Amino acid sequence: MSLAAELKPEATLTGSRSEGLQGVVNVPGDKSISHRALILGGLASGETRISGLLEGDDVLHTAKAVQALGAEVERIAVGEWRVSGAEWRSPGSPVDCGNSGTGARLLMGAAAGFPLEVTFTGDASLSGRPMERVLGPLRAMGAATDGSTLPVTIRGGDLRGISFVNEKASAQVKSAILFAGLRAKGDVEVVEPAQSRNHSENMLRAFGCDVETVDGTVRLGERRSLTGTNVTVPGDPSSAAFPIVAALVVPGSEVTIRNVMVNPLRTGLLTTLLEMGGDISFANERDEGGEKVADLTVRASVLRGVEVPASRAPSMIDEYPILGVAAAFANGRSVMHGLSELRVKESNRLAAIIAGLRACGVDARDEGDSLIVDGLGGPPPGGGDVQAHHDHRIAMSYLVMGLAAKRSVTVDSADMIATSFPDFVPLMQSLGAQIA
Ligand code: S3P
Repeated sequence: MSLAAELKPEATLTGSRSEGLQGVVNVPGDKSISHRALILGGLASGETRISGLLEGDDVLHTAKAVQALGAEVERIAVGEWRVSGAEWRSPGSPVDCGNSGTGARLLMGAAAGFPLEVTFTGDASLSGRPMERVLGPLRAMGAATDGSTLPVTIRGGDLRGISFVNEKASAQVKSAILFAGLRAKGDVEVVEPAQSRNHSENMLRAFGCDVETVDGTVRLGERRSLTGTNVTVPGDPSSAAFPIVAALVVPGSEVTIRNVMVNPLRTGLLTTLLEMGGDISFANERDEGGEKVADLTVRASVLRGVEVPASRAPSMIDEYPILGVAAAFANGRSVMHGLSELRVKESNRLAAIIAGLRACGVDARDEGDSLIVDGLGGPPPGGGDVQAHHDHRIAMSYLVMGLAAKRSVTVDSADMIATSFPDFVPLMQSLGAQIA
C-alpha cells in the first residue's frame, strides 16, 4: 500500500527545502482516461482489458459503481483490469462516487440511458458541487432526476436526442451527454464554443462508435454500439505537473518524466511554463492507445511572470494551483484569466490558491475571474500552514512550494492526495524531495 494511502484522515505533511531533484519517473495513469475506460468497458459488449489504470480512490469508486450497475469488473494485477459490459440495472443501494466529480457526472450520463433507478452519493466536498449542469441536459433527453446536488436520483431510459451548447467548456458535461446519447433515439450533438478535452470522443471511436467533430460540434453517428477493446492508459499530465514544477523551482534539478500524455487539449500548463522560460524538452513523442505521449525532461529554470488567456483555461483547468506556485517564484507579475470554474472544483480553488500563497508570504489576489500573483523572482518566504480544504491538488501544490521556499510549508488534509496520485509522496521522495 502506498504511503499516502496509509495516512490517517486529516493527516498533515510538510515539504522542506531540498537539494536538486534528480531522477527518472513514471507518473500514474491519466485520471480522465481511467474513469472513461471503466465506464465504456462496462457499457460495451464483450471484454475490455485496461492496462495502466490509475488506482486512485476516485477511479476505484468508479470501478465499484460500474460493477454495482451490472458490469463485471476484475483487477488482475497492478493497473491491469478486465471489464465485461452488461445492460445496466438498478443497483441495490446508492452508488458512492467518493470525491470524484468526473465519476459522478459521467456515471449519471451513462446510467440515464437505461431503464433503471439509481441514487448517487459522495463525500462532503462532492455533495456541495453543482450537478445541474449535467442533470438539465439529461432531463431534456427524457430522464427524470431528483436533487441538484448529491444525493441525486436518476430514472433513465427511453431517451431522445439533444443539441446542447457547452458554454462552460466542461468535458464532464459533454461526456455525460454523449454517454447518455449512446442509447437515445435521434441526433445527439454537443456544440463547443471552446473545445474541452476529447478523451471521450477518442475512446468512443476505439470502442467502435461513430463520433465526428466538425467545426466545434461533436456529434454521435448512426453506429452507437460499443465493442470491448484494449485500453492503455497514458501517464497523467495533471499529475506530472507536480514533479515538473518542482524540478523547475528547486535549484540544480534535472528530472525526466516518462510517458506523459501530451494531447494538445491537456497541455496548457506546458505551454505556459515554456512561455515563463521553463527548460522543458520533449523526447520520444509517440502514439499510445490513441493518445500522444512523450518523455519530458525538466531542468531548474529562472522563470518570468506570464499572462495566461482565458482561452487556455480548458486545457489546463486542473493545473492552476501548481501554476500559482510556479508564478510565486517567477520574476514579476503573473495574471491568469477566465478562472470562474475553479470556484466549483474539489474546493473553491481560486480562494484556496490565494490563501495558500498568502500563507507562504506571496502577494496574490483575484480580480473578477482572474488570479494575480506577484512573483518574488526567487524563493518565497514559505513557513506557512496551508489549508488544503480536502483538495488533493492544493495539498500537492503547496508541498512542492515547500521544497524550494525559504522555510518549510505544512499542509493539512494531505490524505486526499490518494484520490488522484496515491504514490505522490514516495515518487517525490525518490527524486530527493523532502516531504514527510
Ligand atoms: C475532467 C474534466 C474537467 C477537470 C476534471 C476532469 C474530465 O472538469 O477539471 O478534473 O475527466 O472530463 P470539467 O468538465 O468540469 O471542466
